[in-house]
Amino acid sequence: MATFISHSPAQTAALGEQWGREARRGWLVGLSGGLGAGKTLLAAGLARGLGVTARVQSPSFALVNEFRDGRLPLFHLDLYRLDTRQDIIAAGLEQYLDRPDGVAVVEWIERWLQERSWPAGRGVRCRRVSIKTMGETDREISYEDFGG
Ligand SMILES: Nc1ncnc2c1ncn2[C@@H]1O[C@H](COP(=O)(O)OP(=O)(O)O)[C@@H](O)[C@H]1O
Ligand SMILES: [Mg+2]
Repeated sequence: MATFISHSPAQTAALGEQWGREARRGWLVGLSGGLGAGKTLLAAGLARGLGVTARVQSPSFALVNEFRDGRLPLFHLDLYRLDTRQDIIAAGLEQYLDRPDGVAVVEWIERWLQERSWPAGRGVRCRRVSIKTMGETDREISYEDFGG
C-alpha cells in the first residue's frame, strides 16, 4: 500500500495524470472518499494522462461518461446515487465493473462492493484508492494494487 499526501488540487490531478500514463487495458480503479475529497479531480487527471482532451466532470447524473479519444477507452463512473448492487446492474453498469474493456475509474466503488469482492480473483487488475480530507487543501491518498 502506498500513501501520497496532496497539498493542492494540482498535486492530486498530477498524481492521476501519472496513473493515466501507466494505465493498461482492463484496469479497474475504485475510488472511495467523502464528498469533496477529490475523486473527480483524480479521475480528471487520469483522463489527461491517457490523452483525453475533453473536460471531465462529475458523472453523478449520467452515471457513466465514456471518453474515446485517449490512448485507451476511459469509463468514468459515479455510483453515488445507486444504493444497491441490483440498482447498479439495472442501470447497465456491470459491464464496466466486471471486466472493463479499457480503463474504468469508479467513484463510490463501495456501492458495488457490498457483500462482494473485487474482480481481482478473476484476473482483473485493480487499484483500491481511498482519499481522506485532512484539511482545506490537504488530502491523504492511499492506494493498493491487486489482481491482474
Ligand atoms: N489537495 C486537494 N486535492 C483534491 N481536491 C482538493 C484539494 N484541495 C482542495 N480541493 C478541492 O476539493 C474539491 C474536490 O472536488 P471533487 O474532485 O469534485 O471531489 P469528489 O469527486 O470526491 O466529490 C474541489 O473543489 C477541489 O478544488
Ligand atoms: Mg465526484
